[in-house]
This record gives sequence, C-alpha cells and structure tokens, in this order.
Amino acid sequence: MTPDYPLLSRQLEALLDTRDWLTNSAQTCALIMQQVPDLNWVGFYLQRQPELLSLGPFQGKPACHPIPFSKGVCGAAARSRQTQRVDDVHAVADHIACDAASRAELVVPIVVNDRLWGVLDLDSPHQGRFTDADRAGIEALVATFIERSDLAGRDST
Ligand code: SME
Repeated sequence: MTPDYPLLSRQLEALLDTRDWLTNSAQTCALIMQQVPDLNWVGFYLQRQPELLSLGPFQGKPACHPIPFSKGVCGAAARSRQTQRVDDVHAVADHIACDAASRAELVVPIVVNDRLWGVLDLDSPHQGRFTDADRAGIEALVATFIERSDLAGRDST
C-alpha cells in the first residue's frame, strides 16, 4: 500500500523545527522508517570527501562505509544525480550488499547549489517494493529536508 505522502510531507515539515542538518537527517530517516511499510533500512550517505559517500544517520542494521561514487546503487545515484529505483538488487552486478535481507532499493540524490551533498537510501526485503509513486513521494520528502536544513555552502562536517 502506498503511504499518504502529502500527509507525510506535512508531518516532516512540522518535525523539522531546527535548521540543523544532523538533527533533521536523523528525524527524516526515523519518520520514514516508522511510516513507510516494508522497509529494512533507511539512511543518509554524505559526501564529506570528494567522490566518496560516508555513512550518516540511519535506521536499521549497521551498514557499509564508505561507498565510492564508482560503486553500487548509491554510487550510481551520486554519479548521475538521478534517483535510482531497483526492483531486484540481485540483478545489479555491482550492488553492495550490506544487509542480506535487502531486495529492492530506492536512492534519491541530495543536490544543493549544484553540489552532491549526499543521498537518501531506502531498502526493502520485498522485490519490486518501490513504485513510481514511492519515488515521487520520497523525492518530495527529500525536497522538504533540503528546504528545512542548512546545507548550502558548507560540508557536512
Ligand atoms: N545497497 C547499497 C549500499 C548501501 S546499503 O543498502 C545500506 C548500494 O548498492 O549502494
């Protein structure tokens, strides 16, 4: 079942009452993990060094760190700056398996002032879990996170 993403966006707007990216990123992945069904991992990877993704706030099992732009679904999102929606990660040759339970993946790039700030990664144990409606809904939540947080002109350090 597709969650009510417009409602989730309003809930996120109310939740993000600071401009602090660290607090806001932790709250964003916690809200998604609680409200979007059938997920086993949600979290942020941040570009703190060139072409390298460092693990940020997340919900789920301990995860892979770091991830170069050249690898995996997260790397593809970072390189292309396009959302990656994968029905079956087993079909992706360079998929990085952090949690063996993960089967479908959705990775949304976070671009601020033409710089790749990081990505938001969602994993599900169910093949084909993420529809185009989920893509659009999660992209809208990422847009709210960007708008509500101080990300411009600074590294996530
Ligand atoms: N599967 C990802 C790695 C990150 S984890 O899923 C948390 C990838 O291939 O980039």
